[in-house]
Amino acid sequence: MSNQPIVYLNGDFLPASEARVSVLDRGFIFGDGVYEVIPVYGGHLFRLDAHLARLDDSLVNIRLSAPYSHDKWREILAALVARNGGKDLSVYLQITRGVAPRDHAFPKNVEPTVFAMANPLLPVPSQILRDGVAVITMDDFRWQNCHVKAIALLANILARQQALDSGASEAVFVRDGQVTEGAASNLFYVKNRTLYTPPKGPRLLPGITRDLVLELAAAHHIPAQEVNFDVAALRSADEIWLTSSTKEILPVTQLNGEPVGNGKPGPMWSRMLALYQEYKQQIREGRAA
Ligand code: PDD
Repeated sequence: MSNQPIVYLNGDFLPASEARVSVLDRGFIFGDGVYEVIPVYGGHLFRLDAHLARLDDSLVNIRLSAPYSHDKWREILAALVARNGGKDLSVYLQITRGVAPRDHAFPKNVEPTVFAMANPLLPVPSQILRDGVAVITMDDFRWQNCHVKAIALLANILARQQALDSGASEAVFVRDGQVTEGAASNLFYVKNRTLYTPPKGPRLLPGITRDLVLELAAAHHIPAQEVNFDVAALRSADEIWLTSSTKEILPVTQLNGEPVGNGKPGPMWSRMLALYQEYKQQIREGRAA
C-alpha cells in the first residue's frame, strides 16, 4: 500500500496528489453535483445498497444520468477500500456534470466527472460520548431540496461555522417553525421513552443512519414517531441525538445554551448506541450489510 491515499478519478486509481480536475468542471464552477459519504467497518461498506439508492435519487433530482451501475460501483468501491488498507474508513464519492465552458444550461454530450476517496474513519472522542455536544438552532436558509445530497453546501458550512463560533458543535435548522435537521446530521429527541424525528421530505436529507436508528428501535420495541415538532418540543426533551455516517449517534446535552434533560447523555442514547455498535460488529464480521 502506498503511503498516501489512493483516489479514484474517471476510471483510474492514483495517488491523491496526482489527481487533477479541470477548473472548468461544473462542480468547481457551479457546485453542480451530488455526493455520498459511506462508512467502512473492518473493510466492509456500511449499508452500501441504501447509499447507492440515495445516490440514484440525488442524480434523478438534478437530472444527471447515473454514470455506473450498482455492480460497477461495488467493484470500484471495493477496490478503493482495498487500496487504502481496508479497516475503518469513510468513503466519499462525488459526481459532477463534467467539464464544459461556463454556461448555466446543461452541456450536451459531456461525460460526468466521477471521483471517490477513502479517508480514515476516526472514532468519536470519548470526551464527547461522556459529556455530549452543544447545538444552536437557526433559521433554515438553505434551498427547498434538502433531500438531494448536493455538493453545494455553502449554507450548511456557514451554519456549522456560526455554531462553532458560538461555542456549539452543530447548527439545528428550523423551517417555518418546524425543526428539520442539523447542518450535517439528522436529529432525534426522546420524551417519556419515545423517539421523535421529523418525517422524510424535501426539508431534510434522508439519512442512512436515521433509517438504521428507526429500524433498531422497531426491532427492539422502542416506540418511535416520525412527526414534525418545534423548538419548544426540543426544549422540553429528555434527550436529543444527532445522527450521521461519521458521527454515528451523538448525545446533545446543551440546546441554545440551556441543558437538555439533566445535562448528561441519557439512558435511551446509551441503549441505542449499544445496539448500533452491535450492528457495526455484525458488519465487521460480514453478517450484515
Ligand atoms: N452528511 N443531513 C445532512 C444535511 C447531512 O449532510 C448528513 C450527512 C445527514 C446524515 O446522513 P447519513 O446518516 O446518511 O450520513 C443528514 C455527511 C456525513 C457529510 O456531509 O459529511
